[in-house]
Parts: sequence; C-alpha cells; structure tokens
Amino acid sequence: MSNMAPLTKSTPVFASVLIILLMCKLSVSMESTTAEELRSDFLNVLRSRRHEVPLSVEFANSVRNSTCQESSRPLFSQAMESCPRENVENFKDRLREENLYLITEAGEQGRLPVLILSMNGSKQQKRPAIVILHSTRKCKEWLRPLLEAYASRGYVAVGIDSRYHGERATNITSYEDALVLSWKKGDTMPFIFDTVWDLLKLADYLTNRADINHSRIGITGDSLGGMHAWFAAVVDPRYAVVVPIIGVQGFRWAIDNDKWQARVDSIKPVFAVAAVDLGKNNIDKEVVEKVWDRISPGIASKFDSPFTIPTIAPRPLLILNGAEDPRCPINGLNTPISKAREAYKAANRPENFEV
Ligand SMILES: *[C@@H]1O[C@H](CO)[C@@H](O)[C@H](O)[C@H]1NC(C)=O
Ligand SMILES: *[C@@H]1O[C@H](CO)[C@@H](O)[C@H](O)[C@H]1NC(C)=O
Ligand SMILES: *[C@@H]1O[C@H](CO)[C@@H](O)[C@H](O)[C@H]1NC(C)=O
Ligand SMILES: *[C@@H]1O[C@H](CO)[C@@H](O)[C@H](O)[C@H]1NC(C)=O
Repeated sequence: MSNMAPLTKSTPVFASVLIILLMCKLSVSMESTTAEELRSDFLNVLRSRRHEVPLSVEFANSVRNSTCQESSRPLFSQAMESCPRENVENFKDRLREENLYLITEAGEQGRLPVLILSMNGSKQQKRPAIVILHSTRKCKEWLRPLLEAYASRGYVAVGIDSRYHGERATNITSYEDALVLSWKKGDTMPFIFDTVWDLLKLADYLTNRADINHSRIGITGDSLGGMHAWFAAVVDPRYAVVVPIIGVQGFRWAIDNDKWQARVDSIKPVFAVAAVDLGKNNIDKEVVEKVWDRISPGIASKFDSPFTIPTIAPRPLLILNGAEDPRCPINGLNTPISKAREAYKAANRPENFEV
C-alpha cells in the first residue's frame, strides 16, 4: 500500500501530461490533415470549371504596346520603381528576355502569357525564381522595373498577365465583362481562381526549367496580385516563399462588418448587374455574398483568409498591408493573422511569419 501511494498520487499528473502530449500530437496531425483537405477541396473547385489539357509551351514576341484597362494610363509607378536595379555592367546587353505562352487549359483564356527576365551568363547554374503578379487593370509589362530589379540580382524574374488582363484582354472592359458573364453563366472564375489555376501550371513549367532551383521559387504581388499570391501558395507548396502585398483581408469579415464597399467598388459592374438580377435597388451585403459565392465559390467561407492563410505554414510568409487601406481594412486581418501565428508556432517556425 505504501508503495502504491506515490504512484496513485503522481498518476493524475503523469496521465494529464500524457494526455496533453497526445492532444498536441493529435492537433498537429489534425492541423496537417485539415490543411491537406483544404488544399484538395480548393483544387477540386479550381478543376470544376475548365477543360484540362496537357501543359504545352509556345514562343511569343515581346509586347511593346500592352493593354492596361485604364482610361488614362499612368506612366510612372512609385511602387514599381521602388527597388532600383543593381549596378550591373552592360545590364541591357546581358538582360535576357523570354516571352512565351503556357497552354493551361482549353479555350481562348487558356493561353497564359509569360514574360521572363534573367541575366545572361550568370555563374549560378540553378537560380532562385520570383513570380511577380500585377494588380487590377495592369499587365505584366507594367512590372518590368521590378522584374529587372530582381533579374539584376540574379533571379529568374517572372511576370504573367492575369485572366482578362494584358494580352488576354481585347478591350478596356474585358475584365469587368468577364466578371459579369461569370455571374450570369457561372462557368468561369475570373475573380482570382482562374489565375490561380494558371499559377499551378506556371509552377509545373518553372520546376521543369534547368536554370531554376526548384526549392527556391517565391511569389509576390500587389492588390489583386497579392490575392493571387495568397491562393497560389495555398494550393501549391512549390511556391516556397510568399509575400502578398495587401489583399489578405477576410471576405466574410468585410460582409459581417459592413466593410465590403471599397473592394466592391473596384469591380462594381458585376455587383450592379447582380443587384438588378436579384430585384434590388442597391448593392447590399446579400448581393455581395451571392456574387462571391457564384463567381469565386468558397472565398467568403471555407477558403477565406482565416482558414487558408494558416495552411501556408511553415513556408516563409510576409504579409504587407497599408494601415488605412479601405479595400483591406486592417481589422479584417486580425483573425487570419492570429490563426497563422498559431499554425507557425505549431510547426515550430514562428520566425517564418511576419506582418
Ligand atoms: C498603343 O495602343 C493604343 C490603343 O490600344 C493606341 O491608341 C496607341 O496608338 C498605340 N501606341 C503605339 C505606340 O503603338
Ligand atoms: C547570351 O546568351 C547567348 C546564348 O544564350 C550567347 O550566345 C551570348 O554570347 C550571351 N551573351 C552574353 C553577353 O553573355
Ligand atoms: C469589349 O469586348 C467585348 C467582347 O469581345 C464586347 O462585348 C464589348 O462590347 C467590348 N467593349 C468595348 C467597350 O469595346
Ligand atoms: C537549391 O537551394 C537550396 C536552398 O537554398 C540549396 O540547399 C540547394 O543546394 C540548391 N540546389 C541547387 C541544385 O543549387
């Protein structure tokens, strides 16, 4: 009996430590299953509205007069010029420019225009690559100063035209028209998801190139490009470093907190048409909810930032957001940020996540 006493006394402590340990283990493995499940769920949604074809590559010409869907196109962008080129001798002569199309699916939008800048004669055999994504109404040529800045530092710098942008636009309203058609017909996903499909195919292509180190492919973009970077990284772990520059707001949070107006204003026609179709005089939160659900299914529910951002762990992730950006109100980031912190901590890589 006297021998048993200490044992019975310590058993509860021991047992609870054991249970806590088991629970930690369980929650880590549950976490990763959830991340896997979410990824495969998302992939199924991406697959649901397209005819897949084997990836192929076509060579293209440099675009000299690109289409920006803006009535008066700004000639200079502080953001694009924010990272000056490295001082490289004979930079212009050594800069290697490639233009190509990746065939990412059947149909007219299944041609992904790609612009790749790199340094000729770089000593490094396998280089890091960076994919830079443009914002709404811009195009890959707009990114050229940034692409050159990265190329001058030894990166393979990659720009693409998003769906219905740049070479994939026929006129100044192509993107807005596509959004309206998606609402009407529900057979495409021009808001974010179709371009994310292209980014999966782009990763296939980049990881097949001999001059790229496959474990060092980064992805970044601003505004719409930030959202493209976020979702591409969620569905494709080959994007190893991720920097969404604004655009990680919660879509559900915006609806619930009456903060959806600024984002809606950036692509208003689809919401205006939907309001009419739903018999309303104004765009209200129900219209917003229905549009998101139809054109980007799940974006304001299971694929929203609180659920998808944490799945990027443990890969290095830096989220940049303006303090007063009405399209991405900072309070809409609280939940995704705290959930991501937990995920990075659980993965023992808290240092890989910064805001
Ligand atoms: C570029 O295209 C626009 C319209 O697409 C046209 O008005 C303009 O003249 C073109 N500029 C050049 C230099 O070709
Ligand atoms: C650039 O590359 C091409 C072939 O890829 C080669 O013929 C040329 O000599 C190179 N130029 C420089 C400056 O390295
Ligand atoms: C743009 O193109 C679409 C389809 O090609 C067409 O329906 C639309 O009327 C055009 N819009 C303008 C402003 O030219
Ligand atoms: C690719 O990058 C990783 C990480 O920096 C490095 O460990 C590896 O040696 C590189 N591989 C090649 C083939 O250069």
